[in-house]
Amino acid sequence: MPEQEPADLGALSDLRTPWCIHVIATLRIADHIAAGNVEIDSLAAAAGCDADALHRVLGHLVGKGVFQETAPGRFALNGAARGLLDPGARLGLDLAGIGGRMAYAWGTLPNYVRTGAPAYREHFGLPFWEDLDAHPDVAASFDALIGPAGHGTPNPEFQLTGGWEQVRTVVDVGGGTGAMLAEILRTKPEIRGTLVDLPKTVARSGETFHAAGVAERVTTVGQSFFDALPVGADLYLLRGVLNDWPDREATAILSRCAEAARPTGRVVVLKSVGPDDAPKVLEIETVLLGGKRRGMAEFRELARRAGLELRAAGRQPSGYFVVECFPM
Ligand SMILES: C[S@@+](CC[C@H](N)C(=O)[O-])C[C@H]1O[C@@H](n2cnc3c(N)ncnc32)[C@H](O)[C@@H]1O
Repeated sequence: MPEQEPADLGALSDLRTPWCIHVIATLRIADHIAAGNVEIDSLAAAAGCDADALHRVLGHLVGKGVFQETAPGRFALNGAARGLLDPGARLGLDLAGIGGRMAYAWGTLPNYVRTGAPAYREHFGLPFWEDLDAHPDVAASFDALIGPAGHGTPNPEFQLTGGWEQVRTVVDVGGGTGAMLAEILRTKPEIRGTLVDLPKTVARSGETFHAAGVAERVTTVGQSFFDALPVGADLYLLRGVLNDWPDREATAILSRCAEAARPTGRVVVLKSVGPDDAPKVLEIETVLLGGKRRGMAEFRELARRAGLELRAAGRQPSGYFVVECFPM
């Protein structure tokens, strides 16, 4: 095979551009320009920052194709810059919220790589979830990023062994502010649902269920998923949860699901497991939390330890890799 063109290491390792974009998003520069503050002095005054420093940051971004400098010190939005007007896009960039936690967490990567354990606490003083608990504004921005404002409305379509007709009750374990459960209930009117997540996150779910018109079919439970879960539902959903956790904790969460699902329920895992031959990837969850996406063989073993038998798994037309487990 011919060797690939060598990558440009200088461009790949230049941290200026990502930091400039984070700073510009944090200062709401695109909004200030959209509001008519196009001269660097009025722009800096509106954003509460130093005009010369801001000019240098914008000058760098103009060179990268974000913003236009229509005359010296006079700025305009272009297509890329208009993307910064989207509050959803800003959630992941704003250094004052979860965007800052994710950005600075990359600075802990050296210790993660040396030890294989997350080093988030060394920078922020507390492990990730405890840090969010101690900083309600950051936690709210995390919930918003994970919810429809950031990640969009989730797709509720996935197939089950034997069909959805057998399912009347769903517990969404670690379901965030309820976006996925709301969509399942909206598209399947015969189903009732229970949202389980941390108390402060569950407290932010009301609007989602009301907007979907399903509030009367939902129960919300603010608790840890390491404690006993509501029992007897037909389906326990873990979407984008197990990939946040190392093996010991992931097994504990699966164990709680297995105990609650016994004898006739099932546990469905989305967005955390893939085929065994999938390339290894580095995701932000790994750096923040030491979690990981797992291949089938690895997951099957965790499930077995948790008292679950993996009976079906595969990529579905929705794009989800769906894993179904049943209590042993
Ligand atoms: C990556 S989010 C996934 C949210 C949702 N399932 C989705 O697909 O968008 C992980 C969720 O786990 C919740 N979580 C973290 N630790 C928890 C715990 N100990 N007990 C219950 N929920 C927890 C977080 O609040 C968050 O909503």
